[in-house]
Amino acid sequence: MRYYIGTDHAGLELKNYTKSALEVRGFEVIDLSPATTERVDYPDFAGRVAQALQKDPTALGVLICGTGIGMSIAANKYNGIRAALTHDAYTAKMAREHNDANILCFGERVVGKGVVDTILDAWCASDFEGGRHTTRVDKINAIKG
Ligand code: RB5
Repeated sequence: MRYYIGTDHAGLELKNYTKSALEVRGFEVIDLSPATTERVDYPDFAGRVAQALQKDPTALGVLICGTGIGMSIAANKYNGIRAALTHDAYTAKMAREHNDANILCFGERVVGKGVVDTILDAWCASDFEGGRHTTRVDKINAIKG
């Protein structure tokens, strides 16, 4: 499994931790984050990861900003992207099982490294359940707004 990871300036430290944590779990990680701590705009980096997933749809993504909110809002503007803002193991598990999320979002100002480990464990151990959830995800995918 390949992951694309991105952050803004507010998530860089937790991004470095998360990237290593994914690599330790055996995943390939492609880092689309800014190279410096200079202030940047999170939609630009949400776009990098979302567009990478559109081209590589079997991969997954991780987006981190201060809260995770801006990244999830921006990423969900892209077709085929289901970005889930998670805070704990339960929301990470449900994001995969019920929503078939393909981008995991969280905030460096909200969760610490220990919580990120529990989020990653839950996310990686969970798969989409299909069934009635397929109908609902199909309805999301059909929304044209
Ligand atoms: C940056 O200050 C902050 O607004 C951003 O990282 C994110 O939390 C937005 O949702």
